[in-house]
Amino acid sequence: MSSSSLLDRSLRSVWHPCTQMKQHETLPLVPIVRGEGVWLIDADGRRLLDGISSWWVNLFGHCNPRINAALREQLETLEHVMLAGFTHEAVVELSERLAALTGHRLGHAFYASDGASATEIALKMSAHYWRNLGRPEKSRFVSLAGSYHGETVGALAVTDVAIFRDAYAPLVRAGTTVPTPDARLAAPGESPVDVARRAAAALDAHLGEHHAQTAALIVEPLVQGASGMVMYAPEYLRLARALCERYEVHLVADEIAVGCGRTGSFFACEQAGIWPDFLCLSKGISGGYLPLSLVLTTDAIYAAFYDDATSRGFLHSHSYTGNALACRAALATLDIFEQDDVLVANRVLAQQLGDTVRERFGDRGDVRHLRQRGMILAFDVDTDRKDFARRFFAAGLDHGVLLRPIGNTVYFMPPYVIGPDEIRNLVDGAVAALSAALA
Ligand SMILES: Cc1ncc(COP(=O)(O)O)c(C=O)c1O
Repeated sequence: MSSSSLLDRSLRSVWHPCTQMKQHETLPLVPIVRGEGVWLIDADGRRLLDGISSWWVNLFGHCNPRINAALREQLETLEHVMLAGFTHEAVVELSERLAALTGHRLGHAFYASDGASATEIALKMSAHYWRNLGRPEKSRFVSLAGSYHGETVGALAVTDVAIFRDAYAPLVRAGTTVPTPDARLAAPGESPVDVARRAAAALDAHLGEHHAQTAALIVEPLVQGASGMVMYAPEYLRLARALCERYEVHLVADEIAVGCGRTGSFFACEQAGIWPDFLCLSKGISGGYLPLSLVLTTDAIYAAFYDDATSRGFLHSHSYTGNALACRAALATLDIFEQDDVLVANRVLAQQLGDTVRERFGDRGDVRHLRQRGMILAFDVDTDRKDFARRFFAAGLDHGVLLRPIGNTVYFMPPYVIGPDEIRNLVDGAVAALSAALA
């Protein structure tokens, strides 16, 4: 099968995500036939360095031998069983190990497949909790300006990215947005902590007025990914936690993108020394192998659903909830974290990535707000070109790197197995892509 006929068939039959399909008239799809570590290999044998971990999911490389082996073993034992009325070793062990990673503060895990489903679950659980407590009026949600929590209709209520939300506005029961603690908003002489305090004061004012109707505040801890790798000080999470406590509002930490070591700690919230009432995980938890998402929550919230009345239970479900293969991939991922002391190793990698990017981009007049949190590094490019992101992406492919700017923000979010030479390749590719995109 030639690659051109595969592309034709794909364009005829596959509706690709997050894509205006007409743009493929000029920007061809890339037919990937194999993955190997940080590399994706296309049908012509061209190697592309996956600088964004295939939409932020891959942690330990493509076709990782250890995850592959664990999956093969699981495949010979049990591929899937419905989780209502049944259980299995992989889902139990995964739930126990995740609870242990939270110091048993979040001891109950509810499973789904995609990130947006985890958002839906956290929002529904929060509102249902208040209903079970006789406070059904607490059903509104608050999120940060520029937040992204997924694109299903419920998740869009707390997603504040116009391009994803505007067309569906009539379908959405929109929540309220409060100011973001985006560190780039610092006035001269202000620190990121000052910005965080200002944003927290606005949250305080909002909750002061609306707490009686508010079920939860949902945040992307430390980095608001989809609105352009917006980074903020942990101080905001500390203050938000205290305000949620004071106003009896749940705190939902959406760690779908920032969890699993991405920001330097296993959970991003740990850097603020806080725990949320609900924590959403997806993407990296299965090592980037299989759709898996989950919501962790506390004993107290779990207890509010535990009752003789069926209707007080959380009756939400998805067919593949707790899929055994996905859970096994997650267990193999957690094994790698433990066996390879990944959080410590990532500090060295993050430093190498940061040093290399600063060396090549730090002095450029058209590069602004170079910022880093663990294994996420980003900068904004000063250009008026409306098609900057697409041009950069296409030029990156020509230079052997997969990088996909968000608007004018170029970011790096590579798998944790990237080596020093590959970091150089990635950054060299970005330098070439930037020149081509701005030409
Ligand atoms: C913070 C955050 N929440 C939710 C989601 C939605 O996850 P999914 O695309 O798996 O539905 C994403 C996806 O990028 C995300 O970054």
